[in-house]
Amino acid sequence: MSMALSEENSLALQDYLATRREWVERALAELPVWQQGASDRLVEAMRYSLLDGGKRLRPILLLASAEALGANAQPFLPFACALECIHTYSLIHDDLPAMDDDALRRGRATCHKQFDEATAILAGDALLTLAFELVAQPVAEVDPAVSLQLIALLARAAGMAGMVGGQMLDMVSEKQEISLSQLRKLHACKTGALIQASCITGAWLAGGAMVFRDRFAEYGSAIGLAFQITDDILDETGDSRLLGKATGQDQQSSKATYPRLMGLPQARREAEIQIERAEESLSGLGTAADPLRWLARYILTRNQ
Ligand code: IPE
Ligand code: IPE
Ligand code: MG
Ligand code: MG
Ligand code: MG
Repeated sequence: MSMALSEENSLALQDYLATRREWVERALAELPVWQQGASDRLVEAMRYSLLDGGKRLRPILLLASAEALGANAQPFLPFACALECIHTYSLIHDDLPAMDDDALRRGRATCHKQFDEATAILAGDALLTLAFELVAQPVAEVDPAVSLQLIALLARAAGMAGMVGGQMLDMVSEKQEISLSQLRKLHACKTGALIQASCITGAWLAGGAMVFRDRFAEYGSAIGLAFQITDDILDETGDSRLLGKATGQDQQSSKATYPRLMGLPQARREAEIQIERAEESLSGLGTAADPLRWLARYILTRNQ
């Protein structure tokens, strides 16, 4: 079965991504915090990594999840920015010599290459804390009790039970063989948790926490896993210029990846199974959820 989008839906997705990316880019550039930094060098490094680059998938998933429930998502942009801050921090630290030791990210020198290691570590730290500053700020359309719940949700997804925990499993897996179920957990934590949190946050902000939370949790976990499997596949088969990062790195570092454990065809099949699971999870939702459906296919067929 072809998982590619029809031409019509592909155009609709391009249009959707372009407009939502523009919202996110503008919101990030105009965050009211850039004047507050104590060190110009730190702010410069944060802006270098955060602005002008990246697919902005997590903020777009948040917006699309809120819109799937009929909400106007624009007031939720501070939350979308917070997710991109956490994600960008994770990339800066992921690229450090002590971790994946990469020189290229989003088509440019990695933060520690452009600045230095200490600056990159601190820029990551400051982006992580900035995320929580953004989520804690009052927004007229959002009940403060909801914001409080979201702070806890994001902290959990980013921390030891989520992204950071997954990164630790990833580092340990360089030194020892792991099973498929351990790899699934690794991917669900290091990448799935934040992607899932983006979807749940969008649904929650739109007021759908009670009825729809499980559906969005299921959708987010499925596309999160598919996203990292595709990232593993692209590390073997992708074009470094399109990806904006070096390829072949996983094999060089003996990373545990889906293609390594089961071969490329089966890894592709596993990603497809997750996308089918994601689509099923949206079955009760109407056409407002179409962008989420298109995004699921895009995650599978992307080359960037
Ligand atoms: C890369 O994420 C790191 C992973 C979690 C696989 P993205 O592929 O979303 O990177 P950007 O944000 O587009 O640069
Ligand atoms: C990174 O996974 C996941 C993060 C939490 C940053 P990878 O190490 O595979 O991401 P890339 O390939 O460097 O973007
Ligand atoms: Mg890594
Ligand atoms: Mg890496
Ligand atoms: Mg990778």
